Amino acid sequence: MLQNEYICSKFKDLNASDFIVKPFDTLLNDGTTTWKTPSNIALVKYWGKRDPQLPENPSISFTLNNCHTVTTMAYQKRISRETEFSFEIIFEGKTKDSFKPKIQKFFERIVDYVPFIKDYHFIISSENSFPHSSGIASSASGMSALAMCLMTIEKRLNPGMDTSYFYKKASFLARLGSGSACRSVKGDLVVWGEHEEIAGSSDLYGVPFSTKVAPVFKEYQDTILLVDKGEKQVSSTVGHELMHGHPFAKNRFQQAVDHISKIKTILATGNVQDFIALVESEALTLHAMMMTSQPYFILMKPNTLEIIQKVWNYREAHKSSICFTLDAGANVHLLYPKSEKEMVREFIEKELAMFCQQSHFIHDELGSGAIEIE
Ligand code: PMV
Repeated sequence: MLQNEYICSKFKDLNASDFIVKPFDTLLNDGTTTWKTPSNIALVKYWGKRDPQLPENPSISFTLNNCHTVTTMAYQKRISRETEFSFEIIFEGKTKDSFKPKIQKFFERIVDYVPFIKDYHFIISSENSFPHSSGIASSASGMSALAMCLMTIEKRLNPGMDTSYFYKKASFLARLGSGSACRSVKGDLVVWGEHEEIAGSSDLYGVPFSTKVAPVFKEYQDTILLVDKGEKQVSSTVGHELMHGHPFAKNRFQQAVDHISKIKTILATGNVQDFIALVESEALTLHAMMMTSQPYFILMKPNTLEIIQKVWNYREAHKSSICFTLDAGANVHLLYPKSEKEMVREFIEKELAMFCQQSHFIHDELGSGAIEIE
């Protein structure tokens, strides 16, 4: 695994091997660390990966603000270094053993980079700002919160660590938990995946989009319409897998590269019309990949399409700049400039809430990334 990552990234800023640390000689006995980390919504989508959790194409996302996870990690030194990991999970105040396999797998993937995790017993307490089983993926905010907590422990063991390394490694670890989680460490726009026009971009971790962004995009709003709160029939893991041997994979990956170049100009110039065209095309292409894989599947629901049609009608009738995007599910993210906030929110309440489960939607906006809670 390490060898593989080294080869793929040998020309980049940092290699996977740069994130390996030797077990520390002196360990702290115990402590706690708490981080609040956001969810994110991709504008250019990541769909298709290779081992170990490396993207087949670059992606860019808006970091959100209100949809977040707060995780506290309490660590207690064990009597001796053990081969097995030791941890407990409390989710929204209750023991949650069903989350254990996912965390176990995450720990197995990252242990070479944070070997001290075998020296401690952890109590991980987590809560989300958005309702559990709302159809909003909690893996991005959840995994990035864990990564931030682990990096805080590493920093306490190695106080000389520099801030840039801290955040890159946090994103690197988060990626090994869930790909898109690596875009949930920083704000407000993050690129993940090598792209020749994005300085410092890497397949190994997300980097803040640091070139010019027009003011209109700095304050963008995102309302998430909860069309289907149930468990997805097909997981992202399976969806990514189905891009291997997909008849349109090569073109799709190239399209994403081209879209990153285009969106760079769009963001700099503030061209909202071009933004709409690119973002909606990305959303529909993502779902087109699902519909044309073998086996094929559909994650949109009839109400997803009802909403899209209503959004198109509204945009036309009101000369609005609202647009939609989708993640790997039936929910719809509505993106719009802050100047349209009042009008769009009225439209949502009057004409779109009826297509959401229990009329449920969440207003969000661009956020600035992970925050440590003292
Ligand atoms: O991070 P994953 O494995 O859950 O994949 C997420 C994929 C999409 O949400 C559909 C797109 C993206 O770039 O976030």
